[in-house]
Amino acid sequence: MALLAPRDDLAQLEVGSTQSERHSNQNTSSAVMAQRIEPANSADLFPTPPWATRALVEWISSQDVRVWEQSVWEPAAGLGHMSNTLAEFFNTTEASDAYPYGHHHWLWDFIADDHRTDQRWVADWIITNPPFKLAEEFCRIAIRRANIGVAMLVRTTFLEGVGRHRDLFSITPPTYVLQFTERVPMHRGRLEERGSTATSYCWLVWIKSDNSQETKLRWLPPCRKRLERPEDYRGAI
Ligand SMILES: C[S@@+](CC[C@H](N)C(=O)[O-])C[C@H]1O[C@@H](n2cnc3c(N)ncnc32)[C@H](O)[C@@H]1O
Repeated sequence: MALLAPRDDLAQLEVGSTQSERHSNQNTSSAVMAQRIEPANSADLFPTPPWATRALVEWISSQDVRVWEQSVWEPAAGLGHMSNTLAEFFNTTEASDAYPYGHHHWLWDFIADDHRTDQRWVADWIITNPPFKLAEEFCRIAIRRANIGVAMLVRTTFLEGVGRHRDLFSITPPTYVLQFTERVPMHRGRLEERGSTATSYCWLVWIKSDNSQETKLRWLPPCRKRLERPEDYRGAI
């Protein structure tokens, strides 16, 4: 089943991909990457190394969250590095992006299409690495749309900002800040096994049933070596 659909057809399509459909979709990922189209205005395409997503899901699972029974929507899927990794754990995984990179995700602008009421765009979790310039808006929409929780991979400096505090964090503080102790190398338009970065990243996690309005800081201990797999980089661009 091809998951890329013309925008106007989205409402008529089936909800979610099952585990077996998902595995066949995953098998096409390198072909998808080979044929991707680089949109002129996709300046914020930074693929996430799979180990950084595994670190999140491992942590969520340690909090008694039964991810294997739950659904997840990756709404800025890019080349699929995060959505394919989420699919290793969740029962159902949806992937979408505003730009067509191939046949592994739906076309859906997470901001501009938010007014649409298609029931299929409901998920237990919304998890992504949002485009930097739209990250605040992504958080707001995801918090409203997700049933159980939201996780956003952001630069740690995202925690700063008077406007962001006023409009986002003071109203809906994240339940957890999961600070990476290792650097998570991310490069524009490509995944690099031996990449480096001077940027610090963290996961912001909102658990919707937690009404404490208190943000708890946790560190993600070194885990790259344990969670990284050689095949993560096979065919990577
Ligand atoms: C930082 S990349 C993350 C890619 C992927 N989540 C990953 O981690 O490998 C941001 C992605 O957001 C997409 N994007 C930009 N604006 C968007 C929008 N309004 N709605 C949905 N996706 C958008 C870009 O095309 C790009 O794929």
